[in-house]
Amino acid sequence: MTSQPDIVDLTIESLADQGDGVGTVAGKPVFVPLTLPGDRIDAVRVSATHARATVWHAYGPNRREPPCAHFGRCGGCALQHLDPQVYRDWKIARITTALARRHVQTPVIGPLAETPPGGRRRVSFAARRIGRAVEIGFHERQSHAIVTVERCPVADPAIVALLDPLQLLLAEIMPAKRTVDAIVTASERGLDLLLDGITAAERAKREKLAAFADRHDLARIALRFGTAAPDIVAIRRAPRCDFEGVQVEPPPGAFLQASLAGERAIRAAVRGALGGARRIADLYAGCGTIALPLARSGAHVHAVEGARDQCDALLRAARGGGIGPQVTVETRDLARRPLLADELKRFDAVVFDPPRDGAAAQAEKLAQSKVRTIVGVSCNPATFARDAATLAAGGYTLRSVTPIDQFLWSPHVELVGAFARG
Ligand SMILES: C[S@@+](CC[C@H](N)C(=O)[O-])C[C@H]1O[C@@H](n2cnc3c(N)ncnc32)[C@H](O)[C@@H]1O
Repeated sequence: MTSQPDIVDLTIESLADQGDGVGTVAGKPVFVPLTLPGDRIDAVRVSATHARATVWHAYGPNRREPPCAHFGRCGGCALQHLDPQVYRDWKIARITTALARRHVQTPVIGPLAETPPGGRRRVSFAARRIGRAVEIGFHERQSHAIVTVERCPVADPAIVALLDPLQLLLAEIMPAKRTVDAIVTASERGLDLLLDGITAAERAKREKLAAFADRHDLARIALRFGTAAPDIVAIRRAPRCDFEGVQVEPPPGAFLQASLAGERAIRAAVRGALGGARRIADLYAGCGTIALPLARSGAHVHAVEGARDQCDALLRAARGGGIGPQVTVETRDLARRPLLADELKRFDAVVFDPPRDGAAAQAEKLAQSKVRTIVGVSCNPATFARDAATLAAGGYTLRSVTPIDQFLWSPHVELVGAFARG
């Protein structure tokens, strides 16, 4: 880019996968954070080494007033300032583009299922000690710096209300030069707090944490340091999630879908795609978000999950909910030891819901199987498209895709895709 002028006028043509505006300078794409398609940019300094630009002034027809004062600095949201219809279309285009890049035949993609503001039930705050004080909030865009926030229109208000007390608590117990992640989950029996990066060997610290749980009516506080199992330091009520009538006690740090509305939309789409399947494998099962309600409706479900504590929670919930005989649970690393085509023979349908990096190894084995229906749940269209291409090469057709806006105003999108043989 060195031959290009420093200062240029630019029109933003599209949004890149991370939500940055993209224009063209001398035939090359230039990425401009916080700009939108249709924006005119009066003056842009194009970096010599990166196709990135610093915006000085942008204006355009698709801009709206962002609902949050922290928007722009806070790295949590990328698209609060975008016209809602353009926003919805872009989220769906994230999926169609990813599938097209992998040459996967794309069905009609359903309307975007929406989740409301204030519905995020699990939030990870970053905290850092600065002298005697602690700053707590979200990371800035593409930076380790922390933006301190007083409000967040995305998160459950009960979680946001814990921010100030948390800051005071951490100022008392955080060691010098330490960063800590405070992961707060809103469970049906109160907030569940996990402090990651901190230990509480001393009794005094444990007592402070227990008093904090009492004062703020928290369900539980646990501490985690490195790869050690979380240490529960205060438990006043066991945190609980209701998966369609089956009560689960998630262990500290367990995976839960980011919002209740998202969880329900995922379940509805999975159920719709499964039709009447009765023998189902639920791969990457977590604590049973999908497996337990399916079993409660009469299916036999084999749940496979890598985290042992989540498997234990799932099994306990199945037994407690009176559906123990319909659920089997297997702790297994599906990246290293995916279920083989021969093992998949006994299922009418398979659901797979991997982490962001997808299910490459498992998709290979599914592609070799004869399972009639496969349903993929994903928070990453790029890895979903890669795995969908593997299934397509094995003879599966992607029949439907349900997009779900679980990660409001971020560039991320959740989806449920249904595949059938032939
Ligand atoms: C996106 S979550 C989905 C969980 C569950 N289906 C739900 O809706 O709550 C992915 C799950 O995969 C598990 N996981 C990650 N890597 C894994 C692996 N290699 N093998 C098995 N499970 C894995 C995680 O522990 C997590 O519970």
